Amino acid sequence: RGTVKPAFPLSPRRPVPDSIAKPDYAFNGEPVSELKNDRTNKIRVLKPDEIEKMREVCKLGREILDLAGEAVKPGITTDEIDVIVHNASIERGGYPSPLNYFNYPKSVCTSVNEVICHGIPDKRKLVDGDIVNIDVSFYKDGFHADLNETYYVGDKAKSNPDLVRLVETTRESLDKCIEAVKPGLPVREFGNIIQKIADDNNVSVVRTYCGHGVNQLFHCQPEIPHYAKNKAIGVCTPGICFTIEPMLNLGSYRDVMWPDGWTSTTSDGKPSAQFEHTLLVTEDGVEVLTARKATSPGGPVKRI
Ligand code: MF3
Ligand code: CO
Repeated sequence: RGTVKPAFPLSPRRPVPDSIAKPDYAFNGEPVSELKNDRTNKIRVLKPDEIEKMREVCKLGREILDLAGEAVKPGITTDEIDVIVHNASIERGGYPSPLNYFNYPKSVCTSVNEVICHGIPDKRKLVDGDIVNIDVSFYKDGFHADLNETYYVGDKAKSNPDLVRLVETTRESLDKCIEAVKPGLPVREFGNIIQKIADDNNVSVVRTYCGHGVNQLFHCQPEIPHYAKNKAIGVCTPGICFTIEPMLNLGSYRDVMWPDGWTSTTSDGKPSAQFEHTLLVTEDGVEVLTARKATSPGGPVKRI
C-alpha cells in the first residue's frame, strides 16, 4: 500500500542452543498452553516470586531492545537487527519469544513506515527518513517480557513534522495510560485515554491489534484494545501483568495484511507508529517493568 516491499530471500532460521529453555511453541509452532488457557477467561495474579521473575526478564528485554535501537541507522538491514536481537537473547540465557510463535520465522518484529506491526526482518536497508518499530519479546525462567519502540532513522525523519507528530503522539498516548494505571481501573479505560490524544493530534487508532496479559504465557487475558468505547473485560489488580501497545496512523486506521500472513500495513500506505511496555499493577499504581534507562537510545524529540 506504500513503498515498503518484502526484500527476499529471508535468511535461514537461526538456531537456539539446546541448553536454553524454550516455550512450547518453539518446537511445532503451536502455543498449546496459550490456546488452552484462552478458554478459562481468568486474569492471573502473580505470586511474589513470579513477580521477581517478571522483573528480571523485563530488565533483560530492555537491554536487548536498547542494543537493537543503538544499531538503527541508514544502511543497516532489518535482518541485521534480527541477528542482534537473536544473539543478545541467547547471551542472556533466554529465548527470543517471536521465533516460531505460530510459525513466525524470525526473532524480532521490525515494522518500517506504513507497516503497523509484525514486520518480518529481511534484506531491506533502513534509509534516512524512515521510522522503524522494533518489537522485542524475550522468554527466560518461564516468563515473557514484551516491549517495543519506534525509532527515527537518520536526521531526515526527525525534521518531518508529520512523522514527529505521529511518533510523539503515540509515545505520549502510552505514557498517559501508564500514569492512569492503579488498582480498580477497568482496562477498557486505556482505549479512551489513547483515542483522546490521537483525536487531538489528528492521527487514527488501529483497532485490529491489542495489548494483552503477559506472564508465563506470551499472550493471555486481559485483552487491551487501544480505541475508545471498547468493551474489554478486566480490572487492574495488584499482581497482574499486561502490555499496552498503541499503534497510531497518520491516515486511515484501517489495516491490511501482506500475503506473508504477518506483515500488517496501513490501508493507505501512510506511516504508523507504536510503543509498548510490560506493566505490573502494584498496590498503589504501576511498575513499568520494561522502563527506559538513562542510557536507552531513541527517546522523545521536540515537535516541529
Ligand atoms: N511482540 C508482539 C506483541 O507485542 C507479538 C509478536 S508475535 C510474532 O504482542 F509472532 F509476530 F512475533
Ligand atoms: Co505485545
